[in-house]
Amino acid sequence: MNTAIRTQMSIHTEVMDLLNNQIAMEMHASASYLAMASWCDQRELLNSKALFYEQAEEEREHAMKIFKFINDNGGSAISPTVVNVNNEFESLLAIYEKSLEQEIAVSDSIKKIFKKARTENDFVTEIMLQWFITEQAEEEDKFRSIIDLFDLMEGMPLKMIDERISKD
Ligand code: FEO
Repeated sequence: MNTAIRTQMSIHTEVMDLLNNQIAMEMHASASYLAMASWCDQRELLNSKALFYEQAEEEREHAMKIFKFINDNGGSAISPTVVNVNNEFESLLAIYEKSLEQEIAVSDSIKKIFKKARTENDFVTEIMLQWFITEQAEEEDKFRSIIDLFDLMEGMPLKMIDERISKD
C-alpha cells in the first residue's frame, strides 16, 4: 500500500475539528471532577469523594478514546490546554447540580458531532459516537438520581446523605 493511501483520513475534516473540541471538553470535565473530588475529600465525604475521583478518571478515558480514534483514522489529535477550572463550591448539592449541567452540555455536544458525522456520511465517527450517546444517558441518569436523593433526604445531615450515594 502506498503512503498516500495509508495516511488518507477516514474522518471528515470538520468532524475531526469537532472531535478535537470534544477532547478538550472531556479533559475539562475531568479537571472539574478532580476539583470536586478535592472539595469532598477535605470534608470527609467519602462516597462523593470516591465518585468524583472515579469520574475524573472516566472523563480522561473518554478523551483518550476520541484522541486515539482520530489518530487511528489518519487524523491529527490535539492535546488540549485546560483552563478555567472552578475549585470553589457552595455546597455538595451545588456540586451535583453542576455535574448534571456539565453532563447535559457534553451530551448536547456529542449529539451535535453525531449529526454532523451523519450529514457528511462519516460512518466511522457515527459508529464510534454511538457508545458515547449511551454513556451520556447513563451519566445524566446517575446525577439526576443523586439530586433526587437530596430532595428525599432534605434536612438530614450531609454525611448521612453522602453515605447513601453510590459511585456506580
Ligand atoms: Fe465524558 Fe461525562 O462526559
